[in-house]
Amino acid sequence: MKTNVNLRLYNSFGFDTIAKQFAEINQTSDLQTLIQSGALQKHKTLILSGGNNVLFQKDVFDGLVVYINTKGIEILLEDGNEIIVRAQAGVDWPDFVRFCVDKGWHGIENLAHIPGKVGAAPVQNIGAYGMELKDSFLRCEAMDLTTGETKVFTKKDCRFGYRESVFKNELKGQYVIISVEFLLKKNALLNLEYGNIKAYLEQNGIENPTLQQLHDSICAIRDAKLPDVKQIGSAGSFFKNPVIERTQFEALQKEYPTMPHYDEPNGKVKVPAGWLIEHSGPSTGSGTASWKGWRNEHVGVYEKQALVLVHYGGGKGQDIVELAQRIQDSVEAKFGIKISPEVNFV
Ligand code: EPU
Repeated sequence: MKTNVNLRLYNSFGFDTIAKQFAEINQTSDLQTLIQSGALQKHKTLILSGGNNVLFQKDVFDGLVVYINTKGIEILLEDGNEIIVRAQAGVDWPDFVRFCVDKGWHGIENLAHIPGKVGAAPVQNIGAYGMELKDSFLRCEAMDLTTGETKVFTKKDCRFGYRESVFKNELKGQYVIISVEFLLKKNALLNLEYGNIKAYLEQNGIENPTLQQLHDSICAIRDAKLPDVKQIGSAGSFFKNPVIERTQFEALQKEYPTMPHYDEPNGKVKVPAGWLIEHSGPSTGSGTASWKGWRNEHVGVYEKQALVLVHYGGGKGQDIVELAQRIQDSVEAKFGIKISPEVNFV
C-alpha cells in the first residue's frame, strides 16, 4: 500500500487530488487479501477503475483508493455463431472492443472508443450510438467488499437501465466487479440507425460497411465531438439526458419546434441535455449567450458538445461542481427541466 498518491493520472478530469492510501490490484487474489486484512473497514474506500466518470470534489481523499488493474481476455466458448468471451475488470475497454472487432465478433462495436475499463462498463451500463452494454452482457463476477467472497450476477441480477445498474443503486459500495462475460455473434446485422452514423458513412463513400469500418467510423465520429482526455480533462457526458412527461414536451415543442427528442417505450420523451445546455446560458444582460464553448480560466463547456464539461488545467473539482450547478439552474429556469449528473461525485 502506498501513501499520499496524487490521483491526477487516475482521473480523466486531471484533478490533483491526493489519496491518503492507495492500493493497486493486479490480480483478483490481491483484492481478496486486502479485504481480508480488514483495510477496507479501517478506511473510507473508493474503488477506482479507469477514473473516467468520477469528479473529485476535494483536494484530499482521506481514505483508501483501490485501483483495479487486472488484465486478461479468455474465450470461453466458440459454438456456431456464438462466442462467450471473458475480460478481467482492468482491461482497457476500447482495447477490448478492438480485440473483438478484429476477431469479427459483433455486439459491442458501437461502444468503440469509450474511455474506461471493462469492470466499470456494467456499473453505468455504458451506451452509445444505439447500443448499450446490456445488449451483449451475459454475466459478471463481483467480489463482496466485506467478506472477499465472489458472486456471479446474471443480466437480470444487474437490473440495467439507462446509465444505471444495481451496482450504482441498491448494491452501491458493496461489490467490486472483477470480470465480465459477453455473448457475441459471428454474424449479425450492424446497427447503423443512430444519429449521424449513416451521414458519416455516406460522406466517406462507404456503402455497405464491414464491422471494422463501422468501428473505425464510430471512433472518428467520437473524435470529432468529444475531447481527447489526454489533452483536455473531461468525463465524457457530464449529465444524463432527461426523460420528461409527454404533456410537458408538447408544451415545450410549441415554443421550441427544433428541440430534438426520442420517444421512450413508456410514453415519455427523452430530450438531449446537450441541446438544452446549448440553448441556455450564463445570465448576462442580453440573456442570449449560450453555455456551449463558455469557459473561464480553468473550466468550461466543450465547444463541440455542450454535454461535456472540461478542465483546461490548473483548476479544482470544485470549479466543475459550481459550473455544473449554474448550468442545472439555468436549464431549469429556461425549460423547467431538471438535469442530473451521470458522473460520480467523490
Ligand atoms: N446536441 C446539441 N448541442 C450539443 C450537443 C448535442 O444540440 O452541444 C443535440 C444534437 O444535435 C443531437 C442530440 O443533441 O440532436 C444528441 O446529441 P449526441 O448524438 O451528440 O448525443 P448525446 O445525447 O449528447 C449520448 C451519450 C453519449 C454517447 C452519444 C452517442 C448520454 C448522457 N450521452 O450523448 O455518451 O456517446 O449519445 O451515442 O446518454 C457518455 O456517456 O459519456 C457519452 C459520451
